[in-house]
Amino acid sequence: MDNTLFLETVDSTNSRARELAHQGKPHGFAVLAGCQTAGRGRLGKSWQSPAGMGLYATILLRPGLAIIDYSKITLTAGLAVSVALEALCHLTIELKWPNDIYINGRKCGGILVETSSLQDEAEHFALVGIGLNINNTQETLSFELQKSATSLFLERGQHYEILNIFAEIRSRLLQLIAELAEVGFAAILKQWQRRDMLQGKWMQWLTPAGTIVYGKALGVDSNGMLSVQDNTGLIHEVLSGDITLVAGL
Ligand code: BTN
Repeated sequence: MDNTLFLETVDSTNSRARELAHQGKPHGFAVLAGCQTAGRGRLGKSWQSPAGMGLYATILLRPGLAIIDYSKITLTAGLAVSVALEALCHLTIELKWPNDIYINGRKCGGILVETSSLQDEAEHFALVGIGLNINNTQETLSFELQKSATSLFLERGQHYEILNIFAEIRSRLLQLIAELAEVGFAAILKQWQRRDMLQGKWMQWLTPAGTIVYGKALGVDSNGMLSVQDNTGLIHEVLSGDITLVAGL
């Protein structure tokens, strides 16, 4: 496969891809690893990356987007993963803002987008890190994840070729990023909204400042932000933080 660095083990594919991006690797270049020793998730969490079980990849994008549109890359990448899995595995995928891939109420994957310093117009790039549980059995998911996580194998009862899934995801991602740059976000957002698992649900938002807001998710807006109405009626535009579903208030 062209344009891909395969590594048996790496600390984090995002870290390696960042070094290679600084060395000039092109748009669409990817790092794919058999396992990671320090896989990262959002908000400082770690990403368990046992050998041979999952997809651990980072795709470098030099998308030619205005800086303001970089925040839409995470949602676009979530959609790319969804359409790839729907096509290859015939599964119903749900997306949890901003970056989680869910199947039947359990998390199957996540996306970590990191960027270069966006100050320098000429140089900026995005690193789309994708972690997906593919061939994990119940036993190979860690104890803490066993209730909340799933894998393609657990959902479909069959093993999947990680490389095929990666190739489909990269191809869908590059198509959608081209659409984002050339046509805009509207059609991508519509497709994202059809898979939105939070829409209309009660949730808890742990803000970056560490406070907790309870409210109802109203959906994702044209800037890619989540609108949340709290129990006093106030509407918040959520740009980052941790969202957890809660039972109705
Ligand atoms: C999340 O759900 O918080 C995002 C998880 C992203 C994990 C992937 S695995 C490949 C890439 N390299 C990393 O260190 N993290 C991402």
